[in-house]
Amino acid sequence: MKLLLLCLGLTLFCTHGEGNGVVRRNFDLAKISGKWYSVLLASDKKETIEEGGSMRVFVESIQALKNSSVFFKFHTRVNGECTEVSLVSDKQGDGVYTVEYDGYNKFRIVETDPSSYIIFQLRNFNNGETFQLLELYAREPDVSPNLKEKFREFSQKNGVVQTVLDLTNVDRCLQARSEE
Ligand SMILES: *[C@@H]1O[C@H](CO)[C@@H](O)[C@H](O)[C@H]1NC(C)=O
Repeated sequence: MKLLLLCLGLTLFCTHGEGNGVVRRNFDLAKISGKWYSVLLASDKKETIEEGGSMRVFVESIQALKNSSVFFKFHTRVNGECTEVSLVSDKQGDGVYTVEYDGYNKFRIVETDPSSYIIFQLRNFNNGETFQLLELYAREPDVSPNLKEKFREFSQKNGVVQTVLDLTNVDRCLQARSEE
């Protein structure tokens, strides 16, 4: 009952949040370890997330390492075949991580409910050029329309106005994921 009243008072927060554990600061990275699915993808350089684009990657899992680096396991489609890609990103400090992939990348977690979803904001630097990428990962293969809308609003606010790609409509290499 208390929670319901709180939600009535904070309608925006409660309808937008997917669960009760939404955090925007002081992320406990250990909590984001485990299985994830890529759900939405947005870029201000559209070709990077189109078929054959370097950033059209589908997450399978994230592992926070003891040395504060973070391990990501992805799949990407190369000539129609699902190919595994593993990356280790190092902590730069202040919630910012860096990783070498198609150039140099800096990223941060915008917001997460570790039991449900995570939103990453990434900037790529390559040959004097730069673009921005936003990603929504979820613990389940799909998320609520509310959360998708929230992601779209965030994309707009950050100038990533080109189409937000809904990956639930494409081949995300789900068949290539390892069995538990
Ligand atoms: C942390 O460990 C991983 C795996 O052994 C390694 O790839 C990474 O470079 C290490 N990070 C740092 C900052 O040393």
